Amino acid sequence: MTGVGIDAIEIRTGKLKLDLAETFAPAQGEDPGKYTKGLGLHASSFPDVYEDIVTMAANAAHRLMERKGLTPDDIGRIDVATESAFDNSKPVSTYVAGCLEEVYDDDFHHANKGERKFACIAGTQSLDDAFNWIRAGRNRGRAALVIATDTALYARDDPGEATQGAGAVAMLVDEDPDLVTFSTEQGFGSADETDFLKPNQQFPSVDGKRSVNVYLARMREALDDFAAQAGDLHPDDYAMVPFHTPFPGMVRKAAALGYRHIVRDTDVELALAEEIGRQPRPEEFKTREQYFDAMEEYTDELTETERYGDWYADSIEPTLSIAREVGNWYTGSVHVARAAGLKRSLEEGREMAGEQLLVASYGSGAQAEVHSETVQPGWREEIEALNVDEQIDDRYELSFEEYEQIHDVHNHDTETDVEEFTAPDGEFVFDGWGRMGERKYRYVR
Ligand code: CAA
Repeated sequence: MTGVGIDAIEIRTGKLKLDLAETFAPAQGEDPGKYTKGLGLHASSFPDVYEDIVTMAANAAHRLMERKGLTPDDIGRIDVATESAFDNSKPVSTYVAGCLEEVYDDDFHHANKGERKFACIAGTQSLDDAFNWIRAGRNRGRAALVIATDTALYARDDPGEATQGAGAVAMLVDEDPDLVTFSTEQGFGSADETDFLKPNQQFPSVDGKRSVNVYLARMREALDDFAAQAGDLHPDDYAMVPFHTPFPGMVRKAAALGYRHIVRDTDVELALAEEIGRQPRPEEFKTREQYFDAMEEYTDELTETERYGDWYADSIEPTLSIAREVGNWYTGSVHVARAAGLKRSLEEGREMAGEQLLVASYGSGAQAEVHSETVQPGWREEIEALNVDEQIDDRYELSFEEYEQIHDVHNHDTETDVEEFTAPDGEFVFDGWGRMGERKYRYVR
């Protein structure tokens, strides 16, 4: 066995698009540059009226199973990670299994199903669960289906509204995978925080500025913890660093912090010192404030260096290309970043087999996790099979009035009857409510 990791991946975006610069910015009375340059986002994906977290998850999983020639008997576990669940008891994975059973002859009655919750990091935690299940030898030769699915909506006029998004990422976790294997080493940074939460409410309560700082603080802890397990980190050891991407501007901050952190006391810090001096050390300052100010100044200069710019262009920028067009997918976001980075490598003819990725996940509340992955020889075929560009291009573009309607359609507290904007074709769709308040689905051929 070469290891355990991701054998296949499928991405499913919501079928509607809101252009942030052309449509959202003028309606909000904001400069488009706030979104495109500041946050680094061009557009958000939204679900059409017949789409939700179940349809996006089931449609991604179905395409994955078809492409890999799988039937339900090959799957021993279905885990769904989401922070958009509509039921506190019945897991989304049961709905997804129900959908898939409509199109396959056999069923998932002997598969273990569950739902993982820890904000956006739950997708990565579900991959962990699958890894542990396989490594424990409890999988009976079967693979795990892990699906991260979310409709990341904020209340209207919340500052987070610009970062919304909707989509699902389905991943098959198996022995001897075609895409990446996971390291055994992991680093965690975890603390009880109230930066972003949904206490029995659909739209989050967010302390936006604080959430950015909490992300950075927990990420630094996770990097330290990972280095303590895996040995000193060096930027040359990792071809790419996919981060959880609530918006690319967040990753711009996290990447600068991460780079500064891992080059400390290395040849890279020495080489940079000729240009911008050595990194400030706390013992050189009378107060913490003075130290933080000096660090901020150093970081600004660091990000202006050619060396940092080249690293960022190779290791970070490629991972952001899909997020820029679809927004935040919460649990799916870091998995979109990994796929985007590999997709760019494929387009540029960069050979990735054998290369290491440093994968940095984050969930509010709050926890960061860092582990490494080794890209496998089958990566090229897997990434070539993605049709995410077509899906992104085919989205229906909403006017601002239509956006307001679709936000209401997906708001659990409003009753809005809106005609669908696109026509379903060969996919699972939401089909109304059952007698116990359950959601119903059907496959449209
Ligand atoms: N041209 C260029 N840049 C501009 C600009 C213009 N015209 N106008 C503003 N900007 C820049 C600002 O300088 C700022 O950049 P810096 O942070 O680098 O200074 C950036 O655009 C955003 O502007 P604001 O800070 O003024 O934006 P805001 O306060 O309205 O909203 C936010 C920002 C608080 C992050 C908000 O989007 C939010 O609440 N988002 C949801 C929470 C979130 O995503 N937090 C991230 C960490 S938590 C996490 O990762 C979990 C998760 O998925 C939610």
